[in-house]
Amino acid sequence: MNITKKHSFRGELSVPGDKSISHRGIMFGAISNGLTEVTNFLQGADCLSTISCFRQLGISIENDGSKVLVHGKGLHGLTQSQQILDVGNSGTTARLISGILAGQPFQSTLNGDASIRKRPMNRIFTPLSEMGARFQCWDAGYFPDLYKKTSSGCAPFTIQGSSLRHIHYQSPIASAQVKSAVLLAGLYGDGITKVTEPVLSRNHTELMLAGFGADILSTDTTAAIWPEPKLEGQAIHVPGDISSAAYFIALGLITPNSEILIQNVGINPTRSGILQAALAMGGKITLLNQRTVSGEPAADILVTSSSLHGTTIGGSQIPTLIDELPIIAVMAAFAEGTTIIKDAQELKVKESDRILSVTENLNAMGGKITPTDDGMIIEGGSLLHGTEIKTYQDHRIAMAFCIAGLNAEGETTFDDRNCVTISYPSFYEDLEHLQV
Ligand code: S3P
Repeated sequence: MNITKKHSFRGELSVPGDKSISHRGIMFGAISNGLTEVTNFLQGADCLSTISCFRQLGISIENDGSKVLVHGKGLHGLTQSQQILDVGNSGTTARLISGILAGQPFQSTLNGDASIRKRPMNRIFTPLSEMGARFQCWDAGYFPDLYKKTSSGCAPFTIQGSSLRHIHYQSPIASAQVKSAVLLAGLYGDGITKVTEPVLSRNHTELMLAGFGADILSTDTTAAIWPEPKLEGQAIHVPGDISSAAYFIALGLITPNSEILIQNVGINPTRSGILQAALAMGGKITLLNQRTVSGEPAADILVTSSSLHGTTIGGSQIPTLIDELPIIAVMAAFAEGTTIIKDAQELKVKESDRILSVTENLNAMGGKITPTDDGMIIEGGSLLHGTEIKTYQDHRIAMAFCIAGLNAEGETTFDDRNCVTISYPSFYEDLEHLQV
């Protein structure tokens, strides 16, 4: 696929359902009693991995391509899978399902793609082991022909579930995946399990689990969960994913003569940091029709071409826009002045090392960007030109640099355009639809 400069984007679109919320709808439905109906479910490869793992654990799940019906079997209804659970590219599937599997009276083995096999799992092994589960990692070079032990702290790994102790976990990182794994394990604990994070991460687990009937209390950066609740199936309507809307927010802001209305986007404050960052850069953004969808705040977002300037992004903002930093870096390259992104070491352990993949590609396009240990410094205002983008099979890199390419001189090509199917299968069609 070749991308060339376009001069205007106008129109309306609805981005697909939120990835984090779609995963949780399936998982929480599976361990609840009765039927859970998930509408506007994200049919991306990551969420389909969650469906296939829970099917392997004995849960019947119907998926007609938009609506998903989960026939939940309650907290103790899962059965052991005879096959390895394949989480594909999905860190959320790997870490959240591990929290649930930690409390089961059986063993499970998880594996995933090349990216997953490099991502740190010790961050969940530590608290879940403290609760009583046991983990063993296998050398990916031999697996599954030979189960050779390793202490890599990465997939593939086996979890031996157990009856669990309650803990109060002081998480060293602000990670919703770690928090959620501990809270889900806490459903099977022998008392109240608590997690305290350094900074609040996305709180979809707390909101949605409460909706299913869990006793869960959030105070500042601590979430507490009571064991053995009676969870009941729910109807969940998934709002549009702000992480997907982010590409169109950036496109509307940096392309001249553009106006884009993105409908029905989740704007949970633990997720919507891109809106504050874009406003701080001088972006013209209006929230319309604010409402609540399945317990989550949502709005339509109107963006208009803007003259952007640099800003500093760091501290407690980071977890609210962690997945949006690649596209924010692209916006910063089109802004006047310097943008500093700091306190974002977590970028190194996403689907790719995003400090590397962002800086390498932006510099290859003629940008002036310096990687740092915890982020990057972007000198905006250089004229960008097309190049071949190395996506590292990272969906967010492919989409961010597609937006950059649409505003760069010459041709931008990609080593892999299909990785967008992880979170946004219709990305290119939706983009096409906005071209004037
Ligand atoms: C997610 C949490 C974040 C985010 C990921 C989805 C979730 O990861 O980057 O895309 O659904 O809980 P961390 O919890 O590792 O920060």
